[in-house]
Amino acid sequence: MKGILLAGGTGSRLYPNTIAINKHLLPVYDKPMIYYPLSVFMLGGIRDILIICNESDLNLYKKIIGNGEHIGLNIQFKVQKHPNGIAEAFIIGEEFINGENVCLLLGDNIFHSPNLGKKINDCINLRSGAYIFAYPVADPSRYGIVEFDDKNKAISIEEKPLKPRTNYAVPGIYFYDSKVSEIAKSIKPSDRGELEITDINNYYLSKGELKVKRFGRGSVWFDTGTTQSLYSASEYVEIVEKRQGYKIACLEEIALNHNYIRKEDMINYVELLPNSDYKQYVENLI
Ligand code: G1P
Repeated sequence: MKGILLAGGTGSRLYPNTIAINKHLLPVYDKPMIYYPLSVFMLGGIRDILIICNESDLNLYKKIIGNGEHIGLNIQFKVQKHPNGIAEAFIIGEEFINGENVCLLLGDNIFHSPNLGKKINDCINLRSGAYIFAYPVADPSRYGIVEFDDKNKAISIEEKPLKPRTNYAVPGIYFYDSKVSEIAKSIKPSDRGELEITDINNYYLSKGELKVKRFGRGSVWFDTGTTQSLYSASEYVEIVEKRQGYKIACLEEIALNHNYIRKEDMINYVELLPNSDYKQYVENLI
């Protein structure tokens, strides 16, 4: 399974924080935002990753994460020239997907949930079709919203409905079979001029090939696209990390725990990091 991390866009809702810095590079408490979706890929065992970003940010992303070798990943980059919508990721990434199944993560989505790696693993075993999630939210008009019948089967998905039929939002983690690139090429831009991920999901739904799994109440999901939610996500990470003494989304920790790299290589790499709490944390782990 391949992983695509979509980290383009203008971040207009976070203005003026995003005048000079791309949204996905802003800090969420003690690390850049993209560490969080990258950690989700790593927990799920997805190590072949394409990061799609704006041309002007390419070098910054490379500076932050490089080719990912130091944490046992194989990271490539592609540019999204214009903010044409989430579904364009599958057109830009078609060559990278190369006939395999693919997991798409939105760069501003943060997940923290018990057994997250296992949940992802279930989706990785997908033979064909698509797998998405549903998560209850208090502000459903901001999201793709899924409706279920009385047998818990998804029957409709609407993008940012004015009158939401349920409070179940579709978070920014999606699993598709390899035909997703062809489907993305066939859909038309929405009224806001974007190729909508909801249209891809509706395509699979119409073919009876969409599975929707609900996240339980103990799971945490933030879409950090607004100032308030970005701040809430930072607060959440701070509270959990301070209480437990464990970091959320420490990529080096996941790489070590999953044996993605050898301990000796990690020791050499960490030695080069600037003195910081983060370095101290990784040194203590080693
Ligand atoms: C996008 C999707 C929406 C999804 C949300 C999750 O919204 O279009 O369906 O629920 O991400 O974060 P946008 O980021 O475009 O507001």
